[in-house]
Amino acid sequence: MSTDTLTSSLHHYPLRGDITVPGDKSISHRAAILAGLARGTSRVSNFLCSSDCLNTLAAMQQLGATVSPAPNPSSFSVTGIGGSPSLSQQPIAIDCGNSGTEMRLLAGVLSALPVHAILTGDSSLCSRPMGRIITPLSAMGAQIKDRGEREGCAPLEINGKKLAFTESPFDYTMPVASAQVKSAILLAGMLAEGQTTVRQRQKTRDHTERMLAHFGHEISTSPDGLTLTENGGARLQATDISIPGDFSSAAFWMVAACVQPGSEIILRRVGLNPTRTALIHVLQRMGAHIEVLSQTDECEPYGDLCVSYSPEFHGTDIRADEIPNLIDEIPVLSVAAACAQGDTNIRNAAELRVKESDRIKTVVSNLRAMGANVVEFDDGMLIHGGAELCGCTLDSFGDHRIAMSFLIAGLRAKGSTTLLHCKNIDTSYPNFSEHFTLLTR
Ligand code: S3P
Repeated sequence: MSTDTLTSSLHHYPLRGDITVPGDKSISHRAAILAGLARGTSRVSNFLCSSDCLNTLAAMQQLGATVSPAPNPSSFSVTGIGGSPSLSQQPIAIDCGNSGTEMRLLAGVLSALPVHAILTGDSSLCSRPMGRIITPLSAMGAQIKDRGEREGCAPLEINGKKLAFTESPFDYTMPVASAQVKSAILLAGMLAEGQTTVRQRQKTRDHTERMLAHFGHEISTSPDGLTLTENGGARLQATDISIPGDFSSAAFWMVAACVQPGSEIILRRVGLNPTRTALIHVLQRMGAHIEVLSQTDECEPYGDLCVSYSPEFHGTDIRADEIPNLIDEIPVLSVAAACAQGDTNIRNAAELRVKESDRIKTVVSNLRAMGANVVEFDDGMLIHGGAELCGCTLDSFGDHRIAMSFLIAGLRAKGSTTLLHCKNIDTSYPNFSEHFTLLTR
């Protein structure tokens, strides 16, 4: 069977074992970008050597950063450009593959550096909305154009230059809750002259702010965490970064252990940034047994989690304020909800429609194909849990999180479940199959 097609079957045994999930995807992108921009040599460890993050590192090398030894294994040194990218006559063509984070964050950086660049990606990425970064970056003075077949979509052409707003500070209120948009603005603002303020209506993951501080560029945050202000002209200083495990990758095993009778697993060195961990609270509300065994606070908090089977697992209502904090976990949470007793209501989550796939449509159609009772809404879904799931052949729609979520669903379904178009699992969790075998053997 090709690695683009994977199968899982009803599993009669508990999940057992102890694994360390790979490095965090969001943090790895940011480590590559900031180490690549900084003055001096940074040591990066536990970088996620997935296709997405390696693309970001390659982009920074195209700008003149050097990496030694070649990544993979996941620890290496990056010597940054110290603010001066290599100059080239030709536009730099950067392939962002499947990664919205890479495209949006790099668009912020490149808008403010003296480079001419074209950012492109795969068909999924070239159909995702880029207007959300084009609007604020253009308002900052950036020259950034959508050159895609669809309006507001990649490829993006950027004619970068020094941005300056010395007369009046740049002040922007984001219409969508998006860490990628926030980060694009903060990165452009950091390289610009003048002051930048970004206002959010809801809190989003704060990895960019934390890592900028780690590289010596402080961002001031309002007490409610919604308004961020920085002064431009930052000089990032190289530093060492140790990347914790990806909470979003750990999420698949958390759900699997909650729903599989007799399970007890330990997940080591999982990132526990409070802007990412709402899934723990939601699963606990559903009756899950999840314990944080130890926690360490560095640039990012991380710790070991023990997750065991929850015999009384039941549905819940997801609050609007929880959505940005668990946006990437909603596909696997939907699988948990289908295995729980009672209803789970997920609303205010229209952002799911513009992820690597339309995750409302893809989750609903796959859950229904397995026999679950689901109502679809424009901004979410209502899952009536407790129906017996049946194995079948499902499409991943090229979406890594859909593929992994439904391989987990296959553990609870009668018969076997085959997922097509799974190769993008490599974008976030290259050793997923190995961990699947390890925990389920
Ligand atoms: C990410 C932010 C989120 C998330 C994505 C990674 C990041 O997207 O869904 O997988 O690294 O900043 P939005 O910021 O668009 O919500």
